[in-house]
Amino acid sequence: MAATEFPHARTAVVTGAGGLRGIGREVARTLAAEGWALALVDRDADGLRQVREELVAAGHTAVDIPADVTDEESVRRIYQAVDEADLPPVVGLVNLAGVPSPTPLADQSLEEWNRVMAVSATGSFLMLRGAAPRMRAAGVGRIVNTSSITAFDGGGTFSKGGYAAAKAAVLGLTRGAARELGPDGITVNAVAPGPIDTDIMGGTLTEERKAEMSAGIPAGRVGKPQEVAALIAFLLSANAGYLTGETFRIDGGKHMF
Ligand SMILES: NC(=O)c1ccc[n+]([C@@H]2O[C@H](COP(=O)([O-])OP(=O)(O)OC[C@H]3O[C@@H](n4cnc5c(N)ncnc54)[C@H](O)[C@@H]3O)[C@@H](O)[C@H]2O)c1
Repeated sequence: MAATEFPHARTAVVTGAGGLRGIGREVARTLAAEGWALALVDRDADGLRQVREELVAAGHTAVDIPADVTDEESVRRIYQAVDEADLPPVVGLVNLAGVPSPTPLADQSLEEWNRVMAVSATGSFLMLRGAAPRMRAAGVGRIVNTSSITAFDGGGTFSKGGYAAAKAAVLGLTRGAARELGPDGITVNAVAPGPIDTDIMGGTLTEERKAEMSAGIPAGRVGKPQEVAALIAFLLSANAGYLTGETFRIDGGKHMF
């Protein structure tokens, strides 16, 4: 059977797209430049609107859907909004919504544990479950989930064991989904970044902090959101159809195994 052609007009849903210095904004910019229409999701309605306005002003197609990815009803409404927005078929999903978990496990509240699991693991699952039937209908799909190098090394600096557990759950989700959705022409991969210069830890990293974090990184520096966006854009591209169930570390060579 001939593989379904990769559609020229196609939509990517990107969660966690509302951080003004985040990876999601760069993913949105990169995908828009490659011809994708964007459905942008974040719980930060203000940031999301600014990202959408920038893309639309540049002539791209983008809608913003402020929502919480951890809530089943909210995710149902996300896809309802996508369907009603008269966008091209949903072919891409990038799950970037995430929160840090700075408390060591022995001191962590159940609330913090549940929160970090809910955003990274449950949120990615709910978004994937909503995307799958739409991608099946399109005959092709590309899903990228966001893990972290913390899933492998247990974290330590900023994010502790709860974050590592949530980001490891994302890897199991990725592999299971890759197996289950592969026959439908849908690929599912994960990216696992090392330290990237965003505001996820609650503010801009100082030069001193960046230098500290760069120790032991062969590339000699922390990563840029644009570099993660370029990797994700490749995984969403037509030519990435034979890559699935894989985890792509992007950490300047800090972890080689
Ligand atoms: N920056 C890093 O060093 C780094 C390293 C490894 C992995 N990551 C992962 O990359 C992803 C993007 O992070 P970033 O660094 O761009 O930070 P960021 O804070 O800019 O992006 C995360 C976004 O997720 C959104 N979000 C959080 N909870 C949500 C929810 N329940 N529903 C909808 N949106 C929600 C936030 O509002 C925020 O805009 C995250 O999953 C993060 O864990 C980041």
